[in-house]
Amino acid sequence: MRRALVTGAGGFIGHHLVSSLKRRGFWVRAVDVKEPEFEATEAHEFLMLDLRRFDNCLIAATGIDEVYHLAADMGGIGYITAQHAQIARNDTMINIHMLEAARLQGCDRFLFSSSACVYPQHLQTDADVMPLKEADAWPADPEEGYGLEKLYMEKLCQYYRQDWGFETRVVRFHNVYGPLGTYEGGKEKAPAAISRKVALCPDGGTLEVWGDGLQTRSFMYVDDCVEGIFRLMRSDFPEPLNLGTDTMVTINELVAVISGIACKRVELRHDLTKPQGVRGRNSDNTLLRRVLGWEPAVSLEQGLAPTYGWIWRQLAAEGRDVYGPVPDTGIGGRIAIPVAAA
Ligand code: NAD
Ligand code: GDD
Repeated sequence: MRRALVTGAGGFIGHHLVSSLKRRGFWVRAVDVKEPEFEATEAHEFLMLDLRRFDNCLIAATGIDEVYHLAADMGGIGYITAQHAQIARNDTMINIHMLEAARLQGCDRFLFSSSACVYPQHLQTDADVMPLKEADAWPADPEEGYGLEKLYMEKLCQYYRQDWGFETRVVRFHNVYGPLGTYEGGKEKAPAAISRKVALCPDGGTLEVWGDGLQTRSFMYVDDCVEGIFRLMRSDFPEPLNLGTDTMVTINELVAVISGIACKRVELRHDLTKPQGVRGRNSDNTLLRRVLGWEPAVSLEQGLAPTYGWIWRQLAAEGRDVYGPVPDTGIGGRIAIPVAAA
């Protein structure tokens, strides 16, 4: 039985990844500074460790074959633009310590979760943006703080492989959403934030959208994300690889899809003082298709239905005033997608 470590397993993607690796027959150690917020972990072992500390990283990596490194101080655009120093400091410590500990403990593979935030800001100034391909990351002009640190860690993974033969994989996620993700408190990203706002909005009511709503993104459902992570880890491709959909929508269109799922009419109040990040962002999946022979396939409508349903139920369970019909999607809302063999 192969032994996997998932760091950041108390968080959104890490928690889903633990369940997926268990189903694939791995023995799984999960590590985080907090337990998963919404559902018990399925990991064989859950260790509460602060991975900024090197000694804790050594403990986490003991006896492990493959490391899925997802721990990070991160959040949506509101969070990452307000916390440059804290995020850069925390993520630098977590990343360099975890990479070195994995090497010293003899792990045979290490996957680093990077981000579309590594791409140059000057390539993302138009809503009708050219999809970003992997080679675009250099010459560099990444998102301040969070994006710069991710880009540096990508390079560190490359150096470890070139100089010491340590097998690394680097995945650049494009905005990931789904059930069991943060939907309130400041770290939430647009799909979850807007699902919450729609759930709390009466039919015909008004909700706030950051920016003019014409900015664009592509969004990936979490089950596709976890599948892509697994496929990349099994591949022999060591360079950074996009993992996202190449279906670009405006934020106003995102609101329309969610309010359609909710069967509600909503008015939008655009707030231009709120953080907006880049004007446009989309993933070029040419390399992804070539390397993995696969790409994310869950549509926004398919993925947002269980996401909205889960957030609606969470808010209802908290005793909040949710409006509209009870969403008819199941809790958890896993969508059956074809999975690669272990
Ligand atoms: P998340 O915030 O839900 O999970 C990250 C987890 O890391 C959290 O549970 C947090 O407690 C943990 N963590 C933070 N500091 C730690 C420390 N010192 N020691 C141990 N654990 C610590 O985020 P997520 O959405 O699951 O993202 C997972 C990874 O994917 C991150 O590296 C993130 O940067 C990257 N990523 C995510 C997205 C996205 O859209 N979700 C996009 C690009 C990149
Ligand atoms: N968070 C949020 N909340 N964003 C909103 C809201 C809202 O209520 N309303 C509109 N938006 C807009 C933001 O202004 C931004 O233009 C867009 O929706 C997307 O915002 P986020 O989902 O918060 O982040 P992002 O796509 O700019 O960046 C995220 O994705 C990266 C990877 O693609 C972040 O999570 C990064 O940390 C991540 O690396």
